[in-house]
Amino acid sequence: MNTSSSESGSVLPKLTIPRNLIGQKALVTGANSGIGRGVAIALGEAGADVAVNYVVGDDAANAVVDDIRRGGVHAVALKADVSSEDQVASLFERMIQEFGTVDILVANAGLQRDAAFREMTLEQWNTVLGVNLTGQFLCARAAIREFLRRGVVPSISCCAGKIICMSSVHQEIPWGGHANYATSKGGIKMLMESLAQEVAPHRIRVNGIAPGAIRTPINTAAWQTKEAYEQLMKLVPYGRIGEPEDIARAAVWLASDYSDYVVGTTLFVDGGMTLFPGFATGG
Ligand code: BGC
Repeated sequence: MNTSSSESGSVLPKLTIPRNLIGQKALVTGANSGIGRGVAIALGEAGADVAVNYVVGDDAANAVVDDIRRGGVHAVALKADVSSEDQVASLFERMIQEFGTVDILVANAGLQRDAAFREMTLEQWNTVLGVNLTGQFLCARAAIREFLRRGVVPSISCCAGKIICMSSVHQEIPWGGHANYATSKGGIKMLMESLAQEVAPHRIRVNGIAPGAIRTPINTAAWQTKEAYEQLMKLVPYGRIGEPEDIARAAVWLASDYSDYVVGTTLFVDGGMTLFPGFATGG
């Protein structure tokens, strides 16, 4: 895998992504930066054609598209706000016009609007819940409708469709000062599991990924200075920050038939952040 395009300082080994998604059509929401960008590029490397959804930043989205196309697969940038029902409907119409169908949805778009609870505005609350949770509902519903319409195409995949819900360690770890964000991620856990249970009989697989601290624009304050990075490492037993590629590699596996019996699971990719690191020496 080419790690030279990662946002900064990746120490990951260069690995070649297995081309096990050839012919599949993938939609990644919020794919113009951070984790979504990494996932979109890796799915392209695995042979999928990729729709790069974004809401602001045409140039960044087009750059991701160019990156993916260089690998020889098809890619397009599709602008849409995932919290809007109309825009999600049009997003899937354009996706299907462009690619004919959708096999893989990575519901990734997410944001933070942090505030102490007593200061938190309804707008901050609604924005986070709207994009992070309602956005996943709307996109998953549209994808499920298409999976059910099309069914299994054995030459493409042994199941009728895959959804990967991008969650967070904060679906488990309470996070003061970020109640809206943690609530949205807790909601994603239950959305993912309830949906996985409901659609598994149709051979549709729904799973989640819970990233820990990943080097992306959403959390620059947590890793940009040496002091902040050292503080962060107290929460990460594995001793390094995650890179978008760490999440991308997990997403490629979850989207592929190699994980065919994995249904309704959250894969934590967090360097051990959820292992209560404080208890390594305390308690
Ligand atoms: C948040 C980051 C945070 C990480 C670990 C992620 O879900 O978006 O801001 O650094 O969780 O706390």
